[in-house]
Amino acid sequence: EEIYSFTELPSTNRYAIENLSRLPSGTIVWALKQTAGYGRFNRPWHSDDGGLWFSIVFKPRLLKDTGYYTKLISVGIAELLCELDCDAMIKWPNDVYVKGKKIAGILTESVIEGERLLGVVTGVGLNVKNTIPPELSKIAISLKEVTSKDYDVSFILKRLLNKLENLRRKYLQVRMKKYFTRKWKKYLMHREGDKIRLSLPNGEKITGTIEKINSEYLLLKTDNKTIKIMAGEIL
Ligand code: BTN
Repeated sequence: EEIYSFTELPSTNRYAIENLSRLPSGTIVWALKQTAGYGRFNRPWHSDDGGLWFSIVFKPRLLKDTGYYTKLISVGIAELLCELDCDAMIKWPNDVYVKGKKIAGILTESVIEGERLLGVVTGVGLNVKNTIPPELSKIAISLKEVTSKDYDVSFILKRLLNKLENLRRKYLQVRMKKYFTRKWKKYLMHREGDKIRLSLPNGEKITGTIEKINSEYLLLKTDNKTIKIMAGEIL
């Protein structure tokens, strides 16, 4: 795949979406620094030098559920971090946590024109050796803080892309989907039976017990009903 690298961009996701028609499937858009990086729920995403900020363009022939891409990437990141002696876990739906703090986030956006899917852009933000702003230090962490090592951002990108390619190839084989889901579940922070508090995209907060959890949805049993949740944040 081709890597478009920039010293600075407002946002690699934005760039990929705006240039989607001329970017072939598999293109990587990578920036050393973003000036207007964003995350889920349109939250600003701190993207100083030293972190890994990139997006992948997918142009599938068939519309896969977008959970597929985030699942693939969250497993890839978790595996890679574990290889680098970082105990990583996946926090539903797709954040990667180490020591109870967020080390990486994934944002998948689909671009649709009428009924047609033009493509899917998955953005990855991984704190490598960027400085975590003090107001975020309670909830965010970097690879450097965990390992005390100064990894090269391009080395991490290469390793991660390699891993993703292997995982994707495996996933495409028949009967691998179950194996893959098992892998994803292995890294999952919250499991069926856990009691959690969750914030929904509309700001509403609910408490309940996880009845079922997968990359597409979470079934939450509350006092009086069971709710199927597609997006939200476990508090
Ligand atoms: C989240 O946790 O809310 C997702 C964060 C995704 C951040 C990445 S950094 C590269 C890409 N470009 C962006 O503007 N966002 C994603």
